Amino acid sequence: MADDRLIVALDVPNIVQGLQVADALGDAISFYKIGLGMLTGGGLALANELKGERGKRIFLDMKLFDIGATVEAAVRGLCQYDLDFLTVHGDPQVVRAAGEGKRGSNTKILAVTILTSLDRADLDANMIVAGDIAEITLARAARALESGADGVIASPQEAAMIRALPQAKGKLIVTPGVRPAGADLDDQKRIATPSQALADGADHIVVGRPIWAAKDMRAAAQAILADIA
Ligand code: C5P
Repeated sequence: MADDRLIVALDVPNIVQGLQVADALGDAISFYKIGLGMLTGGGLALANELKGERGKRIFLDMKLFDIGATVEAAVRGLCQYDLDFLTVHGDPQVVRAAGEGKRGSNTKILAVTILTSLDRADLDANMIVAGDIAEITLARAARALESGADGVIASPQEAAMIRALPQAKGKLIVTPGVRPAGADLDDQKRIATPSQALADGADHIVVGRPIWAAKDMRAAAQAILADIA
């Protein structure tokens, strides 16, 4: 049986391959993430197809960042796709604009704090305030939530400390960087197992390659579902 807490990242190049993965997984998976890499490959059409025809939930990972008026307009337009989750960068003015854009829709706005691909040297190069990355991540999460975000994207290592924030009460925490015990890490560094990420306060986990790159996708998904059951 599917479990909404497991979101499969469809990081394949186009709608044809996206539908192949969704067909292979069938009723084992109820929630899909579609990202920027598929935008030119029919990502929005795939979102429509999975939502409208197959009754799946959709997380559109756009990580929007622009002036307020543009973010508001982009979110308003994207909400017509009846998305479940949509990401924006966690800067307060971006989050507030997204909140305006989503008015009247059921879409939840999730804020990105600090990309997990960035280390302290990158933050220095980007002239981001001195300090420990974990502390800056926590502060950005708190501000994004105060600005009206419905939740945040976080690494499993950050999930517990974000869950402990008073601002996180009733808000969503969604964690990528999840690997079943013994699985290939690919390029992920700060990982946790599916059950550990949920125990640390995540509401949803995002898993990509361990499922869609597996020989038997359905078996791979079912092993994760068994782990979190
Ligand atoms: O294949 P894998 O399970 O590593 O995929 C994780 C998904 O989560 C990818 O779509 C990746 O872009 C996304 N993601 C991430 N780390 C973040 C934010 C998003 O891995 N900090």
